Amino acid sequence: MSVAIDTHGLRKRFGSTEVLAGLDLSVPAGSVFALLGPNGAGKTTTINILTTLVKPDAGVARVAGFDVAASPEEVKQRIALTGQSAAVDEVLTGTENLVMMGRLSGLGRQAARDRAAELLERFDLTDAARRRLGTYSGGMRRRLDLALSLVVDVPILFLDEPTTGLDTRSRQELWNVIRSLAEAGTTVFLTTQYLEEADRLADRIAVLDRGRIAAEGTADELKARIGGDVVELRGADGEVLLELPTDGSVHGLRAAIELLDHSPAAAVEGAQVSIRRPSLDDVFLAITAGAEASAPELIESK
Ligand SMILES: Nc1ncnc2c1ncn2[C@@H]1O[C@H](COP(=O)(O)OP(=O)(O)OP(=O)(O)O)[C@@H](O)[C@H]1O
Ligand SMILES: [Mg+2]
Repeated sequence: MSVAIDTHGLRKRFGSTEVLAGLDLSVPAGSVFALLGPNGAGKTTTINILTTLVKPDAGVARVAGFDVAASPEEVKQRIALTGQSAAVDEVLTGTENLVMMGRLSGLGRQAARDRAAELLERFDLTDAARRRLGTYSGGMRRRLDLALSLVVDVPILFLDEPTTGLDTRSRQELWNVIRSLAEAGTTVFLTTQYLEEADRLADRIAVLDRGRIAAEGTADELKARIGGDVVELRGADGEVLLELPTDGSVHGLRAAIELLDHSPAAAVEGAQVSIRRPSLDDVFLAITAGAEASAPELIESK
């Protein structure tokens, strides 16, 4: 399979902060790739370098076969970027924004109108086409933002935290749109702070930690390292008394609950047991501690 994006030893420093400390990535063409990391991990910096907006201090990045430093124009012709803050006009309607983008991208008047109508339909915004952007909900705005970046067909799409701040329903709608783009052959490189989002969308996930890729693989490969659902015991006022990582199997869950049953913490007045998916914190804990996924062990919370 051909490679859409690859980097070797990418470094970037802002003042005394080393943001990227030698980033190696390889993204197969036609796949969805998620770069997962907490606030300040360097996700936007990575996207900015790959989209030619920021120059790396060292290392090589190739996008669509072109070196971002040597051939930025070639790269720009083959990518679209949807950022955390979109450059859209609040006073214009959805249609007007799309037509304007089409005209700026060199489409003729009619071609720009046709493209706008097609994208509004595809992103389920036809009903809102004549409304000013100022009246759009967060989810509608993200969809329009995505539509704007697709006015011109490109093989590689960069999405910086596409669903941050959206409610569950809008997030799911956007996930559907992103999946359908990938099914149509677009390579999608997205950043996210949500493990669930990476899991649901991405063919491959890379975990960014202290400027390097701490782990990389399919969602299943990562889960095998991280473990499955976590059984937790909370006190009456919601504080976590105990956390038991499991491998997610019936046996693993039963073993965890049995362990809990024999723990003095379970006898605390009003204590409640619940099961949750692993969080981003669990991922980092598992990866940085090299924790064993299978055997559940008691982790005493402070
Ligand atoms: N232009 C800049 N000048 C100085 N420092 C910067 C600049 N851009 C980013 N940084 C710093 O680099 C680090 C990484 O920032 P970056 O925006 O890449 O993180 P991020 O993973 O996208 O975070 P978030 O989830 O908050 O969007 C942060 O400490 C940030 O303050
Ligand atoms: Mg960011």
